Amino acid sequence: MKSLFVAGNWKSNKTTQEANEWIGALQVTGNMPFGQENVTIVLCVPFTILAVLKWAIETNKLPFHLAAQNVSKFSEGAYTGEVSARQIRELAQWVIIGHSERRKYFGETDEDLALKVEKAKEASLQVIYCVPDEKTSIPKGVDVVAYEPVWAIGTGKTDTPENANAVCGEIKKRIGEVKIIYGGSVTDENVASFVKEPFIDGVLPGGASLDPTKFHRLLLAAYGA
Ligand code: PGA
Repeated sequence: MKSLFVAGNWKSNKTTQEANEWIGALQVTGNMPFGQENVTIVLCVPFTILAVLKWAIETNKLPFHLAAQNVSKFSEGAYTGEVSARQIRELAQWVIIGHSERRKYFGETDEDLALKVEKAKEASLQVIYCVPDEKTSIPKGVDVVAYEPVWAIGTGKTDTPENANAVCGEIKKRIGEVKIIYGGSVTDENVASFVKEPFIDGVLPGGASLDPTKFHRLLLAAYGA
């Protein structure tokens, strides 16, 4: 099996209690091939949940990594309301930068995002960098690129696996050998068609990661592809 990267994006959902219930319900004990070297599963959760999930993952030895969904473009200091890369690194190994919802609702520009990548890398965070197409600029040093067409996010409409593969291939040609994943209405029913494609290294499900049963099914389908 080729290597597989699955990042579940909870967006602005769940309390700490609901996060613990999600972990409990997933029952990740030996009933799926978790923890393989070539499989990486990242839970991208709100800042308020990181500490709770870090504890649950370490205590129960679960093969999940954690990601924040945003990072300050500044270092620590007088930036009220911001969370710095160094603060995130205490709790998570990964961060999503450039999600289209950050670009759309919070006006984040390519310049802001490049600064965020710089801060993340200085703090040794690994970066999942989202782009809506093959033309958008991608800062140097990102670890995973997520191709997410805006019209496919949360709409139930996906890109075709063939076109998503072509876009991921274009991005690889442009920036070299980084992992490229597809996001936009990925579910347990369509995930296999994406990860079967040669240039698609994994997926970034949003809605389908919120329900532990659906996420479990999605992982099984991705493994089986
Ligand atoms: P969706 O979200 O799977 O709910 O479309 C994907 C994303 O925005 O990362």
